[in-house]
Amino acid sequence: MFILAVAGSAVGLGNIWRFPYVAGENGGGVFVLAYIGCIALIGIPIMIAEIVLGRAGRQSPINTMRTLTARSEGSSAWQAIGWMGALAGFMILSFYSVIAGWALAYLIDMGRGVFVDAGAEFATSSFQSFTGDPVKVLGWHTLFMIITTIIAARGVGKGLETTVRYLMPTLFFLLLALVAWAAFSSGHFQEGLAFLFAFKTDQFTGDSILMAMGQAFFTLSLGMGAIMAYGAYLPKEASIVNSALTIAVIDTLVAICSGLVIFPIVFANGLEPSAGPGLMFISLPIAFGQMAGGQFFGTLFFLLVGFAAITSAISIGEPAVAWVVEKAKVTRKTSAIVIGSLAWLVGIGSALSFNLWSDVKLLPGKTFFDTMDYVSNNIILPLGGILIGLFAGWVLDRKILAEQLSDAPSLVVSCLLWLIRVLAPLGIAVVFIMTIIN
Ligand code: TRP
Repeated sequence: MFILAVAGSAVGLGNIWRFPYVAGENGGGVFVLAYIGCIALIGIPIMIAEIVLGRAGRQSPINTMRTLTARSEGSSAWQAIGWMGALAGFMILSFYSVIAGWALAYLIDMGRGVFVDAGAEFATSSFQSFTGDPVKVLGWHTLFMIITTIIAARGVGKGLETTVRYLMPTLFFLLLALVAWAAFSSGHFQEGLAFLFAFKTDQFTGDSILMAMGQAFFTLSLGMGAIMAYGAYLPKEASIVNSALTIAVIDTLVAICSGLVIFPIVFANGLEPSAGPGLMFISLPIAFGQMAGGQFFGTLFFLLVGFAAITSAISIGEPAVAWVVEKAKVTRKTSAIVIGSLAWLVGIGSALSFNLWSDVKLLPGKTFFDTMDYVSNNIILPLGGILIGLFAGWVLDRKILAEQLSDAPSLVVSCLLWLIRVLAPLGIAVVFIMTIIN
């Protein structure tokens, strides 16, 4: 159940919506390689560190960090990990909920058969007129946030477990069916493959490596305490190392499969792989419009994307929700409503970035939406990762760490320890510095 819940957190819009378009904007193959490298060398060790901290503390990340710092006699400044994470949650939820809202809207349009026989032009203009309408985008954002809040209010046990138990296997199955369709019927599978795996360096800029690392953090839900919060529920006897490896493999496969579905369609219809956030919402409707039974499969697909987004969104809010419950001694329901409402409020800025506020730039060339995405994924999450690695590796009482990893062979533990204390923090720091120099 823990693996499913964390996989539910990890697998989401990051894999299906964000991975293909970010890979498309950053040159494809080289980006994918950098991304997989970041998952293996930085993501997995940091994920293990987060689960260790969560299971050792057994509270919300903010209080877990407080307890563990005290037990390890570390400086109270380490508690910043918990605070930063809860705050990052609002930034991430703000844009996550907006995109998830789009998926809900597309679910309805698919069901109504709007995209039957749709071509590239129709799909593109539908997307533009939809996102250009502030009322629609705000409305779907609101609906998504309400659904997420209701499930989060029911608690991690009841709400989430039932959702992921049925959802995840169906999502994998449907994704594989789509890959098969892309391979046999799209006519451009080779091109899609070449784009994802070919070693072309021309579009891989200085910022791309930072984007690859940010994507690795985002897709594995790392750096803000979400996995730490879930780790608090992990039974004593479960293996942390095995769980983390399984989750990382599932998550990466889902992302690659999404790319293998989306890029052949992009090339078959003369779309641009670097089309940005609209990539999935333009290419997939075309594909479903063309395939036999596409209306049914398209509806099912967007339904699953919606569910995958809900299980992820719950985990983004979880550090803050769990903390309010502990701190204010209120029920889970009250806490979920408070956090959901605040995140909804921040999300308005992201929703309006595509229409009324499209000219408002917070950072050079970046709308409110772009800024939330860029700053949280590329700066706050990796920074959180450095701190989590350093804390787990250098400050945390070594006995606590050894106890949490006691089922793993000692060689694995030594390697891991080195990755967590040295390589991961250093790797992240080097990427930061390289980006600044560039
Ligand atoms: N990993 C999720 C996705 O790929 C998003 C997500 C869930 C997340 N929890 C998180 C991202 C915590 C960063 C931090 O869609």
